[in-house]
Amino acid sequence: MDEIKRIEQLRKELHEHNYRYYVLNQPTIGDQDFDFMMHELQDLEAKHPEMADPNSPTQRVGSDLNEEFRQVEHKYPMLSLANTYNEQDVADWYESVKKGLAGEDFEVCCEMKYDGLSISLTYVNGKLVQAVTRGDGVHGDDVTANVKTIRSIPLVLTPPATDDLFAAPAYPREFEIRGEILMPWSVFERLNKEREEAEEPLFANPRNAASGTLKSQKSSLVASRQLDAYLYYLLGEELPAEGHFENLEVARSWGFKISEGMKKVKTLQEIYDFINYWDTERKKLPVATDGIVLKVNSLRQQRALGFTAKSPRWAIAYKFKAERVCTRLNEVTYQVGRTGAITPVANMDPVQLAGTTVKRATLNNEDFIKSFDLHIGDYVYVEKGGEIIPKIVGVDIDQRPIIAQPVEFIKRCPECGTPLVRYEGEAAWYCPNDSGCPPQIKGRIEHFIARKAMNIDSLGPETVDDYYRHHLINNIADLYDIDVQQINGDGSRTKSAQRIVNGIAASKEVPFERVVFALGIRFVGETSAKLLARHFKNIDALMNAGIEELQEIEGIGEVMAKSIITYFHNPTNLEIVERLRGYGLQMQLSEAQTANVSNKLAGQSVVISGVFAHHSRDEYKAIIEQNGGKNVGSISSKTSFILAGENMGPSKLQKAEKLGIRIVSEEEFLSMIE
Ligand code: IVH
Repeated sequence: MDEIKRIEQLRKELHEHNYRYYVLNQPTIGDQDFDFMMHELQDLEAKHPEMADPNSPTQRVGSDLNEEFRQVEHKYPMLSLANTYNEQDVADWYESVKKGLAGEDFEVCCEMKYDGLSISLTYVNGKLVQAVTRGDGVHGDDVTANVKTIRSIPLVLTPPATDDLFAAPAYPREFEIRGEILMPWSVFERLNKEREEAEEPLFANPRNAASGTLKSQKSSLVASRQLDAYLYYLLGEELPAEGHFENLEVARSWGFKISEGMKKVKTLQEIYDFINYWDTERKKLPVATDGIVLKVNSLRQQRALGFTAKSPRWAIAYKFKAERVCTRLNEVTYQVGRTGAITPVANMDPVQLAGTTVKRATLNNEDFIKSFDLHIGDYVYVEKGGEIIPKIVGVDIDQRPIIAQPVEFIKRCPECGTPLVRYEGEAAWYCPNDSGCPPQIKGRIEHFIARKAMNIDSLGPETVDDYYRHHLINNIADLYDIDVQQINGDGSRTKSAQRIVNGIAASKEVPFERVVFALGIRFVGETSAKLLARHFKNIDALMNAGIEELQEIEGIGEVMAKSIITYFHNPTNLEIVERLRGYGLQMQLSEAQTANVSNKLAGQSVVISGVFAHHSRDEYKAIIEQNGGKNVGSISSKTSFILAGENMGPSKLQKAEKLGIRIVSEEEFLSMIE
């Protein structure tokens, strides 16, 4: 077979296998065969660039760098739904529909309310041409490249068989289909586990994880995150049927994944039955749902009912109540953070809660424990809000065992035995042994090497732990003393040892402001470190600063100022800083930074848009920050001004005009900061 024909055949077969695997859950070939075919296609496409096709199955793997997202106007605005929380609200809505339709019979389509992020897909001639996020409902981000990596979204639709009388209607030449992008629970749990091991911040819930993923500039990363999509709304001029339910059934035959358990009903009682059934049954679904959506089925009746300013009158969302479970508190353990703060943790009998197994919950601090009068053996109510860590929201006193003992907050550090202290005005107890308490020492080193600090990515928490236990490092300065011989084990790990040592050496180029952050001074975060670095320009000025001078800096309060003073009064810290200076770390702003430093943009949020003549966008970002301003991604009422180059997007322009935000040209901006 010639190679061109083979490309076409492989594409067709791979689309089909994708559909069977990701939409129908009925694969007919193994993963290995699938990968094999995909590789063959990739090779052939590389050989035949003239055959490039944006909808080829190979596009599913994504690339390492996408362009920034383009803002696109929605053809039909993306509205939200009015929420209801109880049966009475549902009954009121049902009555209002009845009234709106002047007593005419109507059907209601009941479906799951998926808890992800909404997406609008446009198909032309059976091909996916555009995928746009909801954005502000009028404009959204064009995330087509990322969405193409989601395997349950068809890139090319299956044309209905023309010789089959009972075949589904053909798809319209152009239509939009909307739905929800979701991260399945299983993927979410795996991802968070990996992030926990890598000490990266956890995603609060699958929705945030899906949203963070979809906004990534790397579609290859999106591909690796295994997102899924359910579609629930078909729009266009020539839809196949007059009913919403019927349209979705037809869309299913075109290859889309359609809401599970969708049902058409007539009476209010049937609606309640659907809600009650899914309130428990939804827990078995592979993705997060947070309610039920009710839609008047007939499109004609939908048009008759119309919209309010924000949402359709023909649809409503019923939200499930936050899930709460009751389980036994077995033990309270205590964690010591990098700053020495002690966090009590409840260890409970494992229970299923909102899709995940829960066995631990934070107890915040001593006052929190006292407020519940917690006893070991108590049955506690646990809820999961927006955060990943579940909360204890109450105690069932009736189930308290007679011999149960109240929880006694520990008096000594669980790691080093030092008596704990509680500073005035603070809720937490601290272990004051900062130079001798292992988790504090390791925590400070881990903070120092973190990506946003010195970015020594050749080291990770396990290596830090290993080196600490082998007395190779006891503080951040010791890192720079490590040599290859010490860490190449029996001599077989020279290459990785060299990589680690090189990584540490490379960090000597990390700019001063990140060094300030990396020191791990209590309360000094990334932003405050920048403020301090810009204000003092070098470490000596910062070390010698008095409390008043520190507090005069906008953004530095009393607590932080005191903490900075304490840090630089500690002889151990001073010795470490001197050693770091000796190793050649950046202890002052670079010349480029000092050449252009001011507070002229202090407190201002600036949006950059368009193409520039004198500097790149990245350079402008740096210039804004060096002058005390903040660069933000999208226009809002809080934006101070827009730095606009050539070809600023029309939607941004429109939004700026609507909000009355000043537009500053490149020349004007340069003279502003001169
Ligand atoms: S229909 C005009 N159906 O809920 C009606 N929305 O608050 C368009 N959602 O933004 C929406 N599941 O992201 C519809 N089965 C479903 C849904 C659903 C989840 C989301 C959607 C929308 C939000 C409405």
